[in-house]
Amino acid sequence: MFKDFDKIELLARECGEIIKNADRYNADTMQKEGHANFVTEYDIKVQAKLKKGLLELLPCAGFFGEEGENDRFPDDEYVFVVDPIDGTTNFMKGFNMSAIAISLLKDMDRLFGLVYNPFSDEMFTAVKGEGANLNGKKIRVSNEPLERGVVLFGTSPYYPDLIKSAFDKAYSFMDKCIDVRRMGSAELDLCYVACGRAELYFEPFIQPWDYAAGSLIVEEAGGRVSKWDGSEFDITKGCSCLAYGSGLGRMILV
Ligand code: IPD
Ligand code: CA
Ligand code: CA
Repeated sequence: MFKDFDKIELLARECGEIIKNADRYNADTMQKEGHANFVTEYDIKVQAKLKKGLLELLPCAGFFGEEGENDRFPDDEYVFVVDPIDGTTNFMKGFNMSAIAISLLKDMDRLFGLVYNPFSDEMFTAVKGEGANLNGKKIRVSNEPLERGVVLFGTSPYYPDLIKSAFDKAYSFMDKCIDVRRMGSAELDLCYVACGRAELYFEPFIQPWDYAAGSLIVEEAGGRVSKWDGSEFDITKGCSCLAYGSGLGRMILV
């Protein structure tokens, strides 16, 4: 069984230096399919470094990353799922809320998750069955009820047909909680639920690299993650996402 998780952390920190020291306002930037879906030279550079470093640690593993090589989900025993910069728009705008996200699956189940925000130097990690940590200290989800909770949401910005449903839902929560926030990084949204900074996160559609790491971190911190209808997600596919702390009981969104 692979256990070199500390080496993955080191690699993430090295990539964090690239992101922190990037000349981001002059970065080469291209637009991908979908509304305002950008990729910068740093997304590509960090993914290449992660791919090389991770496959050196575990050469038999498959690799599934946001920036290319994601037409087909690998069927290897171990698979790395990677988002080199989750929160690319934040990165381009100097809004320091972006993260490197790495997950290791074994037999299509999440074994390890890491989400690292190099700007705040916050490293969220979880190993299946061993709890979740922030900078090496155990974290737990909040036990507060929704009415004393903060709600995070994502707008699924690259899928124009879904954006209205995100805002309608966000509006519907306004009189049921303290306040609603849109941070711009799905993986950090999940980690903020995991460490009790927020009670709920939802988004109409995200991809495996947006939630593979953070969903394990929420679950290992005592929270629940599902699709909006309450059903289990398939980690090899994009889907809706609903994640919440232990004070909210069982939830669904309709
Ligand atoms: C996006 C961010 C954003 C979320 C989108 C994601 P990217 O990832 O996580 O918060 O709303 O659904 O695609 O493109 O910045 O890696
Ligand atoms: Ca992402
Ligand atoms: Ca990304």
